[in-house]
Amino acid sequence: MPAISKKGQLMPQSPIRKLVPFAEEAVKNGKSIYYLNIGQPDIKTPQIALDAIKSISLEVLAYSRSEGSEQYRKKIANYYAKNDIQVSHEDIIVTTGGSEALLFAFGSIMDVDDEIIIPEPFYANYNGFSTSSGVKVVPVNSKIEDNFALPPIEEFEKLITPRTKAILICNPGNPTGYLYSKEEIKKLAAIVKKHDLFLIADEVYREFAYDGNTHYSIMQEEGLEENAIMIDSVSKRYSMCGARIGCLVSKNKEVIQTALKFAQARLSPPTLAQIASEAALDTPQSYFDDVIEEYVERRNVLISELQKIEGVQVATPKGAFYCIAQLPIKNSDAFAQWLLEEFEVDGETVMVAPAGGFYSTPGVGLNQIRIAYVLKKESLIKAVQIIKEALKVYKD
Ligand SMILES: Cc1ncc(COP(=O)(O)O)c(C=O)c1O
Repeated sequence: MPAISKKGQLMPQSPIRKLVPFAEEAVKNGKSIYYLNIGQPDIKTPQIALDAIKSISLEVLAYSRSEGSEQYRKKIANYYAKNDIQVSHEDIIVTTGGSEALLFAFGSIMDVDDEIIIPEPFYANYNGFSTSSGVKVVPVNSKIEDNFALPPIEEFEKLITPRTKAILICNPGNPTGYLYSKEEIKKLAAIVKKHDLFLIADEVYREFAYDGNTHYSIMQEEGLEENAIMIDSVSKRYSMCGARIGCLVSKNKEVIQTALKFAQARLSPPTLAQIASEAALDTPQSYFDDVIEEYVERRNVLISELQKIEGVQVATPKGAFYCIAQLPIKNSDAFAQWLLEEFEVDGETVMVAPAGGFYSTPGVGLNQIRIAYVLKKESLIKAVQIIKEALKVYKD
C-alpha cells in the first residue's frame, strides 16, 4: 500500500472531536447529552445576515477576488475604526474562517523547523496548523492559579532562539477565557520589537469581554505595524460558524502580499457567505448587548455551580465563552469517555473536552477539562450537577 506522509501521521486529532463516536453511541443507546465540549454557540444569527442570503438574486455564483470583495473589506475596515483600530481595506485579506487566516499567517512568516511561542493552554488547532506548516510550537505555561494571566515576560525571553519567528496569543482566550490587559499587550509588543519577531493575535472573540473590561487589540499598539498580524472571524461574533468567513489583518505590506499568494492558490473565499457577512456588519449594538448579558449570566451560573463541587478548581473567565476546570481526577480523557459510555443521571450525561489537548507540554493539564458555556443556564446547572454526581463515583 502506498505510504501516507509523516506529516499526516503527526497531525493531531482534535481533542474536541475525538470523543464524537462515543457520544454517537451514547445517543444510539438512548442517552441525552449536554454538549459542553464544542464552541458552537446556540445564539441566533443576526436576522439581517439571514435576510441578505434570502434576498440574493445572483444568476452566477462566481468566485470573488482572492483577497475578498473590496466592498466587504471596506466595510470591515469601517467596523474596525468603530473599535478604535485604524486599518485600510488593503490591510485585510478575507479568508475561509479564522482557521485559514491562521494557516496563511503561518505559511507567510515561517519555514519548516521555525519556532512559535504560544502561552498554553491554547486553542488546540494551533497544534494542527503548526504541524501542517512544519513549525514547532514552543509552549510557555500559564497557570490556573493566576487565572491564566500572561506568564512573566522573562519566561518568553528564555525561550527565544534564532529559530523563533513569532509569538501567538489568543485574546480573549480559548480555552482560558482570559482577557489580556493593555499592559500585558504592551509587554508583548516590547519583546517582539526587541527580538524582531511577529506577534500574531487571534482576536475572534473580541466582542466577548465582560465585567466592564474593554478589549485591547494588538492593532491599536503604536510602533507595532510591521510585527502585528491579527486573525479575525465572523464565526463567534455573529454566531455564523457555518459561513466560514474570517480575515487576516496586517499593516505589514510584505505579509499581506505574501498571504495574498496563498489566497490566490485557493482562488477565493466563499462568495455567498461574504454577502451574509457584509450584511452582518450592520447588526445593531442591541444584539451584542443582549448576547453579552446572556453569556455573563451563563458564566456566573457555571462558575458558581462548579465552585460548589469539592476538589474542583476553576479560573473565572473575563471573556470568550470557555472555562478550564481542574477536577480531582488523574486523566480527563478517560473521564470524558467514561461519562459518555458508562455514566448517566436519569438518562442524561455530559460531553466535555479533555484539556490535555490544549497543552503542548506532555502530561500537563491531564486533570483539567474545558467547558464551553454555549447552553442555556438551566442546562448548564443540570450539566454541572451530572459532573458532580459523576465525580462521587468515578475511579481513575
Ligand atoms: C481561538 C479560535 N481561533 C480560531 C477559530 C477558528 O474559527 P473559524 O475558522 O470558524 O473562524 C476558533 C474556533 O473555534 C477559535 O476558537
